[in-house]
Amino acid sequence: MTKISKNVQWQHIQVSRQDREKQNEHRSCIIWLTGLSGAGKSTLAQALDLYLFEQGMRSFVLDGDNVRHGLCGDLGFANDDRVENIRRVGEVAKLFLDAGVIVIAAFISPFKQERDRVRALVADRDFIEVYCECPLTVCERRDVKGLYKKARSGDIANFTGISSPYEVPESPEIIVNTHAQAIDECINDIVAYLSFGGYLD
Ligand code: PPS
Repeated sequence: MTKISKNVQWQHIQVSRQDREKQNEHRSCIIWLTGLSGAGKSTLAQALDLYLFEQGMRSFVLDGDNVRHGLCGDLGFANDDRVENIRRVGEVAKLFLDAGVIVIAAFISPFKQERDRVRALVADRDFIEVYCECPLTVCERRDVKGLYKKARSGDIANFTGISSPYEVPESPEIIVNTHAQAIDECINDIVAYLSFGGYLD
């Protein structure tokens, strides 16, 4: 359940989300990228953001590694911390919706319940779950940050896919196979979804 501080009142924001969307000439939404470490979430998020930016749209990336430098810098990777991480990010993403922005959130977000909680925070069509599918063997072979090696040797505890679970999305709006598809194909799939869904009108 959402906690609310004592003695606070909701302040109505005069410029509405609809006003901002009208000015932007597109709807706001949350494109939620989930997948294993090394699956290519951040790379895809950046490329999609750049594409949308170059098309004149208002988008912004929320990335796990980055928010853990500030907003979530007090959190680690135990289950409870990951739950709190996704709760905070979900609330931030919701604020960005009101700002008229296309939010691209790139988080492992390993638990179905937490992803569903973010989904439930907003209207149905505001949340677009994108499963960045990439086999653990491929992520581990890439080991871009050297974290899998450390996880295998026991230097990092609770590492997703090794010593901490990842729950595969059951019915994401979009699946991109980041091991088999080129980045441009992944972007095309997401942009096609936005376009057919009327987000870009
Ligand atoms: S979570 O599970 O959604 O709260 O994780 P997230 O905020 O996306 O942070 C993932 C990045 O943190 C680094 N890292 C770890 N990942 C998984 N498990 C453990 N134990 C861990 N420790 C550090 C790693 O760089 C992740 O980034 P990506 O881009 O996913 O590789």
